[in-house]
Amino acid sequence: MPVRVCRLAKSLAPGLHVLCCAALLWIALHTHALAQAPDTDAHLGVGSCAGTNCHGAASTTKSKSAVIQNEYLVWQRYDKHAHAFTVLQGDLGRRIAANLGIGPADRAPECLQCHADNVPAAQRGVQFHLADGVGCEVCHGGSGRWLGPHASGLVKHAELVQNDGLYPTENPVARAKLCLGCHEGDETRFITHKIMGAGHPRLSFELQTYTQIEPAHFVVDDKYRARKVASPAVQVWAVGQAWALERLVGEIADPKHGGEGVFPELVFFDCQSCHHTTTELRWQKRASTGLAPGLPHFNDANAVMLRAIAARVAPGLGRSLETDIRSLHQALSAGAGRPAPIALRIAATAHQLGDELAAHDFTQGDMRAMMIALAQTGQTSDASDYAAAEQATMAFASIIYTLKVQGVSAGRYAAMRAALEACYAATRTQDAYDPAAFASASGMVERAAVADGE
Ligand code: HEC
Ligand code: HEC
Ligand code: HEC
Ligand code: HEC
Repeated sequence: MPVRVCRLAKSLAPGLHVLCCAALLWIALHTHALAQAPDTDAHLGVGSCAGTNCHGAASTTKSKSAVIQNEYLVWQRYDKHAHAFTVLQGDLGRRIAANLGIGPADRAPECLQCHADNVPAAQRGVQFHLADGVGCEVCHGGSGRWLGPHASGLVKHAELVQNDGLYPTENPVARAKLCLGCHEGDETRFITHKIMGAGHPRLSFELQTYTQIEPAHFVVDDKYRARKVASPAVQVWAVGQAWALERLVGEIADPKHGGEGVFPELVFFDCQSCHHTTTELRWQKRASTGLAPGLPHFNDANAVMLRAIAARVAPGLGRSLETDIRSLHQALSAGAGRPAPIALRIAATAHQLGDELAAHDFTQGDMRAMMIALAQTGQTSDASDYAAAEQATMAFASIIYTLKVQGVSAGRYAAMRAALEACYAATRTQDAYDPAAFASASGMVERAAVADGE
């Protein structure tokens, strides 16, 4: 309905169109929302964002508007979130639910809380459909209060965030908490090893990379910067590492995740410490864990990344993190001490580090130093886990991307890209992961990074 009203306004007086359309939309949507869903934090549904004059246009460039306006089409055509609900009805979704004995997956709260916008019925507006999966309002906040003033174009972004419940997705800390809630879990949503055992894919996440491959439905340019602070990719990556570790150790400390029978909750552990063949020997001693062979160890990939970040940016925090991570390995895998207090201490350090990284101004020198530190780690036993190699690869990609945006010579960029391609090739699949190939790819990254500083 609002779209038709806007078209009418356009034919009457093109100049007036924007304002008139906005005002009518505000009134129409507001009355609509209030009549249908009394809760002011109502989720009005993807349909309420998808008008052709709003975010459902076919355009691929910004014309008069501050945003491209094709966000709905990008989401619907290319973003897996649009299909997050329907995958529950597919073969794998049905298989997982049947193995768990929880009834149909598309009705199980255990699945819906991550695969849809599962707000209570009272908060669902008329255009809300659970089948829309992970829709706009999951990330941008229920639009009951902000849609009207937002569509009017009269209220600033910062004010909508401050007063009306628009979520600050541009802020790396806020974004990390948002995405990790589903991509790692939180108090209400969690994937246990039992759910993995039933067939759920392994979760993997890196804030900057995943923001880009979603794919991004936004462009950072002058129009963007006029409204928002644009954090460089390297910062989004670093902040994401701190919050991912904070979340992981917080969950380890939570008595809710005590595991089953004699086993602890196995989902915290490196998958491949159990799931790999026993004929291709690959165990290597790791000084950072101090563990003997034959023991599973927790997935410390984010901690390995943070070590390289902190060494450059916050060395004091880095040292306490390193000591505590080793103690946590010892407590969880070798029974030396109680894990929970150590995990909570690490959570506090990661939190502090997250705040410091969010305020840090990353220089070219920082990026080069972190890339070299990570590339050197990639040539040691700390990259013998697939999870660590995968994180290091995404880290290289985020740093190289930032260097490119800030300006780097074509030759150096080409050398870094070639090294990155070798990292991608070495980490293509978990089952075929070969630490030696990754070590050699990391050597290429180190040489490219060292040359870059000359
Ligand atoms: C903590 C959040 C969370 C919960 C709970 C959860 N999932 Fe998922 N699920 C994810 C994420 C995130 C992915 C994507 C993983 C990736 O590719 O990185 C995923 C992927 C999947 C996939 C693969 C989709 C594809 O495109 O191939 C299926 C199927 C699936 N989940 C089914 C389920 C079922 C069934 C349940 C309930 C038993 C469930 N999930 C519970 C977060 C969750
Ligand atoms: C998985 C989370 C997620 C979903 C789902 C999502 N977005 Fe976004 N959106 C983001 C992030 C992250 C950004 C980039 C950071 C920013 O500028 O806020 C963004 C940016 C935007 C922007 C650009 C803002 C600008 O200032 O240039 C618009 C417009 C937008 N989203 C609209 C939508 C619409 C419409 C939908 C649904 C069709 C949607 N988004 C679904 C996470 C999401
Ligand atoms: C409500 C839970 C939820 C939130 C919040 C969420 N996601 Fe997702 N995400 C999912 C699920 C579920 C899938 C799997 C969908 C599928 O495969 O059908 C997924 C898939 C993805 C994928 C595709 C992964 C692949 O294997 O191809 C990317 C990329 C992604 N999410 C990025 C993000 C980012 C970035 C954010 C934060 C801005 C975010 N997600 C927030 C639930 C969520
Ligand atoms: C401490 C050892 C251990 C760790 C660590 C571990 N698993 Fe498992 N996993 C097992 C065992 C034991 C089984 C049951 C095997 C069986 O039933 O044949 C299993 C079963 C599975 C299955 C079902 C396999 C099938 O054939 O149906 C999947 C999938 C799975 N795990 C994924 C994971 C993922 C993903 C991780 C890491 C997040 C992980 N596991 C970590 C021991 C482990």
